[in-house]
Amino acid sequence: MTKRILVFRQISDEQLSALKQDFSVDYLPDTASVEDPAFLDALAHAHGLVGSSLAITPALLDRAPHLETIASISVGYDNYPVDELTRRGILLCNTPDVLTETTADTGFLLIMCTARRAIELAQLIKEGNWTESIGSDLYGSDVHGKTLGMVGMGRIGAAVARRGALGFGMKILYTKASPKPELEREFGAKRREFDQLLAEADIVCVTVPLSAETEKLFGAREFAQMKPGACFINIARGKVVDEAAMIEALGDGTLHAAGLDVFEHEPLAADSPLPQMNNVVALPHIGSATHETRTAMAQRAVDNIRLALRGERPISPVNEEVLKG
Ligand code: DGY
Repeated sequence: MTKRILVFRQISDEQLSALKQDFSVDYLPDTASVEDPAFLDALAHAHGLVGSSLAITPALLDRAPHLETIASISVGYDNYPVDELTRRGILLCNTPDVLTETTADTGFLLIMCTARRAIELAQLIKEGNWTESIGSDLYGSDVHGKTLGMVGMGRIGAAVARRGALGFGMKILYTKASPKPELEREFGAKRREFDQLLAEADIVCVTVPLSAETEKLFGAREFAQMKPGACFINIARGKVVDEAAMIEALGDGTLHAAGLDVFEHEPLAADSPLPQMNNVVALPHIGSATHETRTAMAQRAVDNIRLALRGERPISPVNEEVLKG
């Protein structure tokens, strides 16, 4: 029997053709919601799913009685009920490694733009308001030589830190449950308790995955502990931050500035004050959004689903237990 897969995000023509050699494919790249009738129809027959950015709930899984494997086109998997998938014997795969450097580039883009006020100052020109040399009220802060505090030192965190240490001569601090001696050797990273890192860093950059432990890790208390003038950068997940507390801290000056690629609700609500704040650089979740990297991520998902549905080991399984069962 030919297995059926539902692809609900855009992949290349070559990738789609490759899938069609092995499977019957429902291709719905513009699916905006899990309530979309075409999505639900295809889901009812699907042995595999390929896509990203939809919240897959247990109730939705009830509508997918044949589902064997989900190949997410993302490294993060906080929008999947992993324990429930495992309980049902459904394999989840993700796309680590291929997006590490691009996402770290985005982290550094935000660090530079936020510290040097690049977007705000570019706007001055766009609006025709560059009529005299800018005054010290519009100066930014140096990045080189400063202290970068990494909250999370996985693959992406290490790639951001490496850019800071080797490219910008920054001192690197990090929080992590387990020490990273190889990074301490490579570029002198130093492990700190969370509160100590907040007190010492000029730039705090968050790369932790979203989990029950990291949800709202940053709130009023944490922003108050940061150094005056320090910048906060989030390329992890919006829910790692208490967004209302962050907005308040940015508004009253407790938090000097923020560079944000992720938000509590995405897309950002039209009435969010964040885009209007001069001390905020906001990007529409573009961490991995380059042609090269998104193609590589889709390819990883295609490889994962082909291997898994053929009964072979995929490249990057999340819930390994399913393979053993
Ligand atoms: C990821 O891969 O998790 C990125 O954040 C895009 O969703």
